Amino acid sequence: MPNRLFRKKNISDALKESEGFNGGLKRTLSATNLVMLGIGAIVGTGIFVITGQAAADYAGPSLTISFLISALCCVLAGLCYAEFASIIPVSGSVYSYSYATTGEFLAWFIGWDLVLEYLFACSSVAVGWSGYMLNMLHGWGIDIPSHIASSTLVYDDDGWAFSGSIINFPAVFIVGTVTAFLIGGVRQSALVNNIMVAIKVGVILLFIGFGISYIDVSNWSPYIPENVNGEFGHYGWSGILRGAAVVFFAYLGFDALSTTAQETRNPQKDMPRGILISLIICAVLYVSVTAVLTGIVNYTELNVDAPIAMAVDRAGEGLSWLSPFIKLGAIAGLTSVILVMMLGQSRIYYAISSDGLLPKILSKVNKRGAPYSATIFASIVTGLIAGLFPLDILSELVSIGTLMAFTIVCLSILVLRKTQPDLPRPFRTPFVPFVPLLGAAICLMQMAALPWNTWLRLIGWTAVGFIIYFLYGIKHSNLNKRGN
Ligand code: ALA
Repeated sequence: MPNRLFRKKNISDALKESEGFNGGLKRTLSATNLVMLGIGAIVGTGIFVITGQAAADYAGPSLTISFLISALCCVLAGLCYAEFASIIPVSGSVYSYSYATTGEFLAWFIGWDLVLEYLFACSSVAVGWSGYMLNMLHGWGIDIPSHIASSTLVYDDDGWAFSGSIINFPAVFIVGTVTAFLIGGVRQSALVNNIMVAIKVGVILLFIGFGISYIDVSNWSPYIPENVNGEFGHYGWSGILRGAAVVFFAYLGFDALSTTAQETRNPQKDMPRGILISLIICAVLYVSVTAVLTGIVNYTELNVDAPIAMAVDRAGEGLSWLSPFIKLGAIAGLTSVILVMMLGQSRIYYAISSDGLLPKILSKVNKRGAPYSATIFASIVTGLIAGLFPLDILSELVSIGTLMAFTIVCLSILVLRKTQPDLPRPFRTPFVPFVPLLGAAICLMQMAALPWNTWLRLIGWTAVGFIIYFLYGIKHSNLNKRGN
């Protein structure tokens, strides 16, 4: 049994599978597509919703520094992702990297963790999308009945209860619509994503460009509000750190990019570029938006659901024309996040199923090169979760799942450098072991700060994963058949 748990997939086997027939997937993505997919996955709820609340409660105008700290953590993990994606450019991302380095059982564990990240990220952003859409429709005089417009279940001090709503229909609707594009193939999906990214980045640039002249610099003073009552995380430098942990969510998504390595024309060169360039562009956008936002509206008033829309209204007539565009930008932004996270989720199912650890039906690919059965499966599960559960429960699980994945990627870089030092590495993480160790340490610290309930849910999720592996995966693994 222990031998079976630690059996490894040969890196050259993994590479051979991705060459030639390539499992039916098509190599169509260019470097520009990758950067656009990266921005598509990253810019969403974080900047359009969380920024205001984080500035008001934790960091004030110095939330700009929080965004830089959080970017640093993601760049450290991103550098490790980039090395792996250049060595093993296949669709399973960290799952495939672990299969080749630490063995089957840990690979399954991390694959299951990635499913958690992408599944709950898609679902939570779909619930956020529903909120924005309902708000926009309301502005046009259209009201969707509440019994089909909010989650079926709610969670409060007394535990789980029915809310009285049948399902969050708009959330299910957007998941279904995105699925239809994804089944059309990665090329079509990349095109839809490019349009959404152009809209959201255009709106953000308009906000920065026109908003600058409405900044009242007295709102930036004090730049780091004083922590008066000594409570950790409430302004001062501890507030900047707490702010960095909260806005971490705003950077999530760049890792989903690595699941498209098998559909990228020149993954060795373009994947590291795609990951790092999209992260840097988003960091610049985030810091600029935060500076303009806290310059227009005093941070003490920013604890609202739509802070950017509020700043535009507050600036007066000269800027209020931007208001409908901000809503459009937010909806486009959330749509592309759902699209790329769904893409990532389906590629993980595809990769795990190709190795035999999940039923083979999930690795079927259509003529357009889309793993259609994995995409439909992802859509059903995501739609159900988005329709049934409330937003806060979903987003906490996303953070813990992602932090765990980042930690494993960082540590696996060290393992691979030790066990296979001569492997050709088209991209090398700089300053090893410093970069991976610091990346892993920051992620572990952020995980430790999450509530105990979130840990319990992670443990529950992992237990379900172990049951599936021991009942199915261990027996059906391709490595069994090869007598490995
Ligand atoms: N980074 C993504 C967002 O902010 C998850 O919505």
